Amino acid sequence: MSQLPVDGASNDAEKKTSKFGHLCPAVAMYGPCNVEDLEPGKTMKWCTCGLSKTQPWCDGAHKKTGFKSLKWKVPDHPQRIYSICACKHTKHPPFCDATHVNLPSVVTEKQKNCNSAHEDDMKLCTGCGWVPKW
Ligand code: FES
Repeated sequence: MSQLPVDGASNDAEKKTSKFGHLCPAVAMYGPCNVEDLEPGKTMKWCTCGLSKTQPWCDGAHKKTGFKSLKWKVPDHPQRIYSICACKHTKHPPFCDATHVNLPSVVTEKQKNCNSAHEDDMKLCTGCGWVPKW
């Protein structure tokens, strides 16, 4: 697996996301969003919960889920295109690291074995990433 040669993938980003390690996000998409023409130096808020309708960025949908957005500053000399994770399971946020490739079976198994009640009025089951039909 190759990693994208990007600037701005900091250990701080990983530390910030690891605090959500006990919470399972929803999978917004089983693949990345390729975003172009980001403004150098601009701080972006990466969606960590998977519920945002403006993937891969936060729209505030995480409220009351326990998640918070992850701030990422676009490097001063940005790439033209960034492959930003939308499955929300990357180990190198906010970048896609191909974790999504094997994720469907992992998520299916996790949701099958989840002990939480899944109700249609729930926003997100943070035990397994289940969400009511969108
Ligand atoms: S979309 Fe590729 S690791 Fe999340």
